[in-house]
Parts: sequence; C-alpha cells; structure tokens
Amino acid sequence: MSKTLQAVRGMNDILPDDAEVWEQFEDIVRNWLHSYGYRPIRMPIVEPTPLFKRAIGEVTDIVEKEMYSFEDALNGEHLTLRPEGTASCVRAAIQHNLLFGNPRRLYYHGPMFRHERPQKGRYRQFHQVGVEALGYEGPDVDAEHILMCARLWDDLGLEDVQLEINSLGSSEERAAHRAALITYLEGHKDSLDEDGQRRLYTNPLRILDTKNPALQAIVEAAPKLADFLGEDSLKHFNGVQTFLKDAGLPYRINHRLVRGLDYYNRTVFEWVTTRLGAQGTICAGGRYDGLVAQLGGKPAPAAGFAMGIERILSLWQECGGQAERPTPDVYLVHSGEAAQRAAFRVAEALRGTGFAVTLHCGGGGFKSQMKRADASGAPFAVVIGEDEAAAGEVSLKPLRDGGEQIRVHMDALPETLADRLLESEEEDDGSI
Ligand code: HAM
Repeated sequence: MSKTLQAVRGMNDILPDDAEVWEQFEDIVRNWLHSYGYRPIRMPIVEPTPLFKRAIGEVTDIVEKEMYSFEDALNGEHLTLRPEGTASCVRAAIQHNLLFGNPRRLYYHGPMFRHERPQKGRYRQFHQVGVEALGYEGPDVDAEHILMCARLWDDLGLEDVQLEINSLGSSEERAAHRAALITYLEGHKDSLDEDGQRRLYTNPLRILDTKNPALQAIVEAAPKLADFLGEDSLKHFNGVQTFLKDAGLPYRINHRLVRGLDYYNRTVFEWVTTRLGAQGTICAGGRYDGLVAQLGGKPAPAAGFAMGIERILSLWQECGGQAERPTPDVYLVHSGEAAQRAAFRVAEALRGTGFAVTLHCGGGGFKSQMKRADASGAPFAVVIGEDEAAAGEVSLKPLRDGGEQIRVHMDALPETLADRLLESEEEDDGSI
C-alpha cells in the first residue's frame, strides 16, 4: 500500500474544532478594526520576488534564507509566496493610486510563508492580521496602533502581555550609529560568533539582536542608537510616549529592539508574552516612512503592525479563552421517501426565515438519526415520518430541556419554532 500523503512540514491543517475558534476570533477582530476606522484590503498570496527583496531588505533573514521563491515554469517569472503583508499592501496602494490625496487605514489577514525551523508557535505557513496606516506622519497613528492592540488583548482577556518600544530614528541617524557601531565591533571582531562576523559590515544592527550569551557583554556596551537620535526623531518618540502615558498604558523602552525587516524607521514595537515559550512575540510593527517611495510611489509616511494569529490563539486558550461552538437551531429527521422530500422543503423554508438547519443526509433509522440530532447540539429536532408527511405536518421535539413534543402544520413551523426558541432562551437566562 502506498504511504498516505501528509501536509508539508510546518504547514498545518486547522480542523473544525479549531477552525470555529478561528472564525470567532476573526469576527472579534473585524469588529475591532471597524471600530478604529480601518478598511479591508486583500492582496495576492504570490508576488514578484523583487518586491520582497526591495521592501524587506536583501540582507535580512527572511530574504536570505526563509522565502519560498520559485520560477514560474510557464513564463520564467520569479515569484515568492508572501512572507509578510506590508510589502504587498504598499505595492497595491501604489499600483491602484490609493494614496492620491487621502491617507488610508487598511487591514488584511491571511497566510504568510517563511521557511523557518518549525516549533511550537513557529510555522512555515502561519497567519497574520496586519494593519497599515498609509500617509500618516505624526506620532498619533503610532500610538493609535499600540493602543488598539491593548484594547484587543483586553477584549480577549489576554494576560501577561508586555509592550516594548524603541525608536530607530531616521536613515541618516541610523547611518551615523551604524558607522560608530562598526568601528566599535571591529574592536571586538575576534570575539564575534560566525553570524556576527558575517553581519559586521552587511547588517551590524542585527548583531545587537543576538541570542548568544557570550556576546551579551559586547552588545550591552555597544553605542546606542538612542544617543544618535536628532531633535525630530526624539520629538516623535516623545509624542508617542505621551499618548501612551495619557492612556495609562505601561511600556518598556528596549534599546535593542531592532526588528528583522529593513523598512522600519522611528517607532518600532513588539508585544511579548512569557507564557508561550521561545516564540513569545505575539504582535509587532512600527513606522516605515521610506517604503512607499522605495517601491516607486510618491513619498508618503506610513506605520503598521501585524499579529501572529496562531500565537494569539494559543495565548487566548492559555488564558482560559473559550469559543462557543456554533450549533444549528434545528436538526431535521425524516423517514420514508415522501417525508424526505417534505424535509427538503421544510428545511429550505426554515432557512428562508433565518433559522440554521441541519438536514439529516445519508439514510439510517430513526434512532440513529436522533443520535446525530443530539450530537449536533441543536435545541430542537424536527421529525417528519410517513404520518406527518401525509398530513402536511411535522413533530417538533425539544432535545435539551425535556419539554413536550408537539405536532404543527408545516406552514406554522417557523413561527412556532421562533416562539419555542425564545422560551428556551428565557429559561436558560432564568427569566422564567
Ligand atoms: P514580523 O515581526 O515579521 O512583522 O511578524 C509579525 C508577527 O507575525 C510576529 O510578531 C509573530 O507573532 C508572527 N509570526 C512571524 N513569523 C511567524 C512564524 N514563522 N510562525 C508563526 N507566527 C509568526 C511583519 O510581518 C511586519 N509585516 C509587521 C508590520 C506591519 N510592520 C508594519 N506593518
């Protein structure tokens, strides 16, 4: 027998029990985004490879070793499965002239792809909700992003989530810092690990992000970007902090927060938790004022962030978050050919008046159908046997609270069902 096929390593199926939780999360997120005035945008999952090279940076981990890139066998185009959404969102905004005269608040969600080593909370196909505010210059929008995250964590009941912020300044300030950093690291060249040696001249800032304990002392004493920030950058950063303080939101300034994508300037932030092990960053983002111009658009400032849905949902569950399983209002049971045909009509009529109905399919005796009805979680079964079908009636059988079974005319069913559902809801609430 041939071996059964498996999903690609690091790419997960989301089975119904979990997928229902995802859908509820997506509903909450959609309402939350609308309440802040963000509008949806949907971009393709595959983009031209040069888009990510230009946006994210040639010497980043993502571009150097994590992209699913391939040549289209039919026309030789170089394509990549998107590793993130910001580049695509900005490309789309430029291509469709979305920024003409108007700033835009946008959001997207969907799968992203990075060829990383899979572990808990780190996958090769993962999902993000991303938010981008294009055309906004001031610290107000940076603060809005941070505060809106805090509200979502609150709405979801997430605990142990900390906010870290930093300012990466302007490109000139970073260049001055970079030069000072290279000079400093050259003085410690022999102590650097292989990654450090490799990055010394290509991406020295990333050395500050090293997890290698042997390099901590060197990193600790390295020149800090904060000391190179000019007046405008400081003013912007202070502005963000004023809004956060006004809102009473605690944060920590982490001077070593540099992010793994090259497009950032000024404000960057990460939301981290200690409750998910090594992959504790649940959400991250910042300002990227140069990206629109870098991708060929008329210069426009911008800021945004993205959260990892898998990580947020694991934390949600860790913190006792529970999704309600959606159940039908009715499970429709039938026996005999005429009854089955009537059942189709009744089911459609009920759906037409707004009820959720699962119609039994696949045959089987009354007893096994009733078992399915029970398992569906529906509060009522509608039963149509030969008798009922001949009389143009149905039996309405309560499945949860031991109430009485009644027989009603098919035409009267929607109204009767509405009344009975209301009664059982009131009983559940204790209002009767
Ligand atoms: P990022 O930090 O690369 O930023 O990813 C954002 C979030 O996606 C991370 O904080 C994490 O929760 C989740 N994530 C990243 N990689 C994985 C993975 N392999 N498995 C599971 N979850 C993952 C960006 O992608 C930027 N585009 C964010 C942004 C938007 N900046 C401005 N606008």
